[in-house]
Amino acid sequence: MLSKETISIIKSTVPVLEVHGTKITTRFYQLLFERHPELLNIFNHANQKQGRQQTALANSVYAAAVHIDQLEAILPVVKQIGHKHRSLGVKAEHYPIVGETLLEAMKEVLEDAATDEILNAWGEAYGVIADAFIGVEKEMYEEAESQVGGWADFREFVIAKKVVESDVITSFYLQPFDGGEIATYEAGQYVTVRVQPEGLEHTHLRQYSLSDASGNDYYRISVKHENDGVVSTYLHEKMEEGDKLELSAPAGDFVLDTSSEKPVVLLSGGVGVTPMMSMLNTIVYEQPARKVTFIHAAQNGSVQAFGEHVAEVAATHKNVNSYVCLAEPTEDDIARSKYDLQGLIELGWLRGALAEAGDDADYYFCGPVPFMKAIKQHLAELGVSDERVHYEFFGPAASLEVE
Ligand code: HEM
Repeated sequence: MLSKETISIIKSTVPVLEVHGTKITTRFYQLLFERHPELLNIFNHANQKQGRQQTALANSVYAAAVHIDQLEAILPVVKQIGHKHRSLGVKAEHYPIVGETLLEAMKEVLEDAATDEILNAWGEAYGVIADAFIGVEKEMYEEAESQVGGWADFREFVIAKKVVESDVITSFYLQPFDGGEIATYEAGQYVTVRVQPEGLEHTHLRQYSLSDASGNDYYRISVKHENDGVVSTYLHEKMEEGDKLELSAPAGDFVLDTSSEKPVVLLSGGVGVTPMMSMLNTIVYEQPARKVTFIHAAQNGSVQAFGEHVAEVAATHKNVNSYVCLAEPTEDDIARSKYDLQGLIELGWLRGALAEAGDDADYYFCGPVPFMKAIKQHLAELGVSDERVHYEFFGPAASLEVE
């Protein structure tokens, strides 16, 4: 337990640290990779360049510190980050390295303001926060390993099939190289892919949602080819059927609640459709009587993935309603009129599309940040309560706030 004095030092210094947060964590990463270049095998270099991870780590350490005397209040967020850490292979032995480097960066940036008393208090607090993460992640490793077909770290998989889903999205059907069983998963979960493209010094890790229902003898991921995306370009352009890559076991807490039979609304923008495909297919297999409203927004028909599959599901399941929204339909889209809305989703249209879902539906959504912000706001305006709204950001989560 931390003493009252330590807690009060921590709480009184959080605002100062927040002001310098990004500066401290930027310096932290410089020091970390200088001293432990092997960690470049784990961290996402693109996130580093964009400063996204800096903010995520800074925010979460300070948010945890604010709740240092009642860490159980932020347990759900610790678990969410724990899923990501476990799927990336973050281990207990990494925590002291991160803690020491963070304190050193604080000392350098805050200079004289970082007294021994303050640094000691933060050293202690970091220890408590790190222990909370280590404990949660230890259980997650054990659980991943103990499942039928499960494993703790990375396992070799072979690309059994590569299927082009749209101009920018391609699916990869992955089967274990050892020929063994694969763990089941919940709809909405993701896997981490580990590759080392030729000519690059480090391994590169990326998370991709599983885009089909669990229970098959493969995992399917559907990857958007990002401009300048190291891993997505490698997967799209270099990896062919028969090639091997490594995967960690399915993880994540953005999952469809299949214990409920309530109507469900699945909303996606762009490649955010991937977890929704897993959810839709799961409902069709496991809960065929459950009512689904599936709304997908894409730029135009040429980049829209899974359109035919969803249309077929909707045509053959009377309880599934599907809507396609194209921001800028092409001439071909217009000629074939294969969409329900032209332009961005706005409140009035959404109200109409949701009319059949009823008042007690659960909402799941995923997509680019502007899409997610708009949907979240629309749902609030339509009076949907927070506990019925579930969403996931691709990329680092925005913060570790207690809602
Ligand atoms: C991701 C917090 C320790 C490696 C994250 C994220 C947060 C976070 C908030 C973003 C989660 C998301 O995307 O949803 C923390 C805190 C730590 C800690 C509060 C200490 C108490 C560590 C350690 C390592 C590590 C010890 C390993 C050396 C990573 C990596 C990512 C990540 C590789 C993925 C993002 C990227 O690659 O840029 N962490 N973390 N973290 N963390 Fe940690």
